[in-house]
Amino acid sequence: MPLKIIQVGVGGFGTSWRHALTTSPDVEVIALVDIDRDILKEAADVFNLSSDKCYLNPDTNWAEIEADFVIDSTPQLHHHTNAMKAFSGGKHLLVVKPMSDQWKTGKVMVKEAENRGLKMAVAQQLRYHPVIMKMRDLIQSGEIGEVGYIHQDAFFGSPGYGGSYPQPYPLLVQGAIHFFDYIRWIIGSNAKSVWAECWNPSWINEHGCRCSYVVFEMKNNCRVCFRGVATESENTNWTCNWHIEGEKGIIKLINDHVFLNDKEIAVSWDDETHISDLNLPVLNKIVLDEFISYINGDKEPGFSGKNNLKSLEMVFGAIKSSETGCRYTMGE
Ligand SMILES: NC(=O)c1ccc[n+]([C@@H]2O[C@H](COP(=O)([O-])OP(=O)(O)OC[C@H]3O[C@@H](n4cnc5c(N)ncnc54)[C@H](O)[C@@H]3O)[C@@H](O)[C@H]2O)c1
Repeated sequence: MPLKIIQVGVGGFGTSWRHALTTSPDVEVIALVDIDRDILKEAADVFNLSSDKCYLNPDTNWAEIEADFVIDSTPQLHHHTNAMKAFSGGKHLLVVKPMSDQWKTGKVMVKEAENRGLKMAVAQQLRYHPVIMKMRDLIQSGEIGEVGYIHQDAFFGSPGYGGSYPQPYPLLVQGAIHFFDYIRWIIGSNAKSVWAECWNPSWINEHGCRCSYVVFEMKNNCRVCFRGVATESENTNWTCNWHIEGEKGIIKLINDHVFLNDKEIAVSWDDETHISDLNLPVLNKIVLDEFISYINGDKEPGFSGKNNLKSLEMVFGAIKSSETGCRYTMGE
């Protein structure tokens, strides 16, 4: 029997789940929830659902619908509320990144899932982009030995990155959650402490902090220096540009080209898509499959809620450090 799914937030990024949800024999979308009637109608046509399977949030109590799990693809300020609804109705949860817009609500979500014996995961699908996987493989196979330090750059246009809605720290909370999650995934070590500066240069008039310099001390002693800036200079992709220095060599990622000791290593998508394409529908399918295995067994993915708290703390630790002017130690 396919697992029954309710999707909450069906427009915007929510549309990138359609490929996985309509091609996987293991799942069946049985209800859709959104705040926008027109978006609901359009999505209902895609999933071939009648209008009585479409629910307006927050007017209806969609938590009472019988289903196995919820995919929440609404903006992060709703994730905590939606999670509590899903868990109170006994449903597992796959939520898009970031887990929540606040550190304390993220922790509550993970705790609540655990207390109820439900599975929760955060769809950090960009972990599976081929260039990220290639850098991970090179490091994990020991090609450059012990990693000493990493420079990671994320350049956005001159207005910087503002996220899906006005928020205080769009770059770190909605953007850099991907980048900090890559670091843990690629080097296989968690952050120990962080210090950071978040600010806006004079030409940013829009809401929210759009520039950050962040330095992590990782548990394996590696230091990571992240620059996320609003700049006229060439934009980087969501995979970032990297310089990874190890005791036996250097890995660079420059505009999605991977270099090992200055020699380019071939990396491609299986389907010949351009390497800089994020191919989100394909990556979401990988995440969905892993989440289904998690529900059906005990294989906890690296992006489970509990694991993902370690990435979320890197984000909120950096914010705390910038606001206090002090180094933040993970677990404080
Ligand atoms: N690669 C990625 O993982 C990736 C990429 C883009 C966006 N995202 C994440 O997706 C989320 C949504 O971003 P977006 O840009 O698509 O936002 P959006 O504003 O387009 O919202 C997405 C959908 O949610 C609906 N919605 C909004 N509030 C709702 C509510 N309270 N209840 C039900 N539906 C609601 C909207 O009507 C819309 O259909 C963000 O958290 C963002 O971080 C992830």
